[in-house]
Amino acid sequence: MATALNRWGPYTNMRSLAQLGPKIISRADGVYVYDDRGRQYIDGHGGLWLANVGYGRREIIDAIAQQAEALAWFPSFGGFANEPSLRLADRLVELMRVDGMAHVMFSNDGSEAVETALKIARQYWKALGRATKYKFITRRYAYHGVTMGALSVQGVTVNRIDFEPLLPGVIHVAAPYANHCSMHPDSSVCTFACARAVEDAILTQGADTVAAFIAEPVQAAGGVILPPADYLRQVREICRRHDVLFIADEVVTGFGRLGSWFGSRHYGIQPDIMTMAKGITSGYIPLGATAVSDRVFAAFLDSSVPGNPEFRHGNTYSGHPIAAAAALVNLDILEREQLPEHTREMGPILRKALQSVQTRHPQWVQDANAEGLLGRLELVDPTGKRKPGELGAAMAQHMYDLGVIVRPLGDIVTFSPPLIISEQQIVQMVAVTEEALMRVQAQS
Ligand SMILES: Cc1ncc(COP(=O)(O)O)c(C=O)c1O
Repeated sequence: MATALNRWGPYTNMRSLAQLGPKIISRADGVYVYDDRGRQYIDGHGGLWLANVGYGRREIIDAIAQQAEALAWFPSFGGFANEPSLRLADRLVELMRVDGMAHVMFSNDGSEAVETALKIARQYWKALGRATKYKFITRRYAYHGVTMGALSVQGVTVNRIDFEPLLPGVIHVAAPYANHCSMHPDSSVCTFACARAVEDAILTQGADTVAAFIAEPVQAAGGVILPPADYLRQVREICRRHDVLFIADEVVTGFGRLGSWFGSRHYGIQPDIMTMAKGITSGYIPLGATAVSDRVFAAFLDSSVPGNPEFRHGNTYSGHPIAAAAALVNLDILEREQLPEHTREMGPILRKALQSVQTRHPQWVQDANAEGLLGRLELVDPTGKRKPGELGAAMAQHMYDLGVIVRPLGDIVTFSPPLIISEQQIVQMVAVTEEALMRVQAQS
């Protein structure tokens, strides 16, 4: 298929694509997407962990059109601004006050938001005259994006390996991962051991060399790895004790995904820096954002601090007026329809449904869980016939044939549907999952 190869697909095996051809999605509405033959699918993955308010929202489409007519674009460099991005910053700061955030810088996506956070952390310590604090601590299985800085703090080995050498001064520590934790299988011991691993890394490197620790509240692309209840609080405390900034990467967990507005709030912490993207516009148009506390911002404002307090960083499209206009209406919908609260109600329904699949297929399902509308079904092939990843890929294909789109990560089927999903649609999505599993079993 020559035309399929003209477009080099992201995270796509182009040899398979050449054989199979692309799956073309042509339109979408609510929780459903439709392919070019008109077939309907439940979008069990919200695009790529987003589509929080669902597809086809007339209000957002109109806001985009109106903003494009009034002012499609003008840069925000060097003192210029546009009204939607100023209003959005005010709105976000108001929303995140309880999370300790006070200022926002815009970018275009999650990778850029993370890149911005890393650079803020480095310059923050330089501005305070502590230039030796430049290292970053991150975790195994972490996904923070694809640009070289964001990739350097990734902990998904296959994503990193072909691009090394990456940024020097990045230290990886164990992630608390039920049933897989390299520190201890018992979650209460693992919480403590994995938090201690962060402290050990800080002490081994020397706190005077460490700028920041970065973490997703739930490690999404690593396999929807849910942290033990107290882990993030313990690490937050360790970072505070050693004067290390805590960056919460909320690109997936922000804007209601876990049943709270932000993952940090969900797990009871206040970070120093927060990164956002995806659910900030529900995907209607790209937008990233990096928020910081007053303490961090002060280093860039205070002319008495040594160094250059201007942050020489910014993307051409930082604060794009159309993206900001879309985000404002997206926030209106999340608030008006109380989607974080709805997600809190739907989460246990998704978890219970997935766990009932595990109960009926204990040999094939190693783990089933969900926090809010972020779910996982970890599969294992008891016949031992399949290579790692083949089971997940087979499940995703059967589910697609049966009308549900999900994302397999190795042999973990992950779920992240639009937050508007109903109980009945969750039940249907999980019924399809079980049917797909039975098809896999029949082929074994
Ligand atoms: C937690 C997290 N951070 C950052 C990113 C990178 O975002 P983007 O793909 O928009 O660059 C992702 C992408 O999935 C993510 O899951």
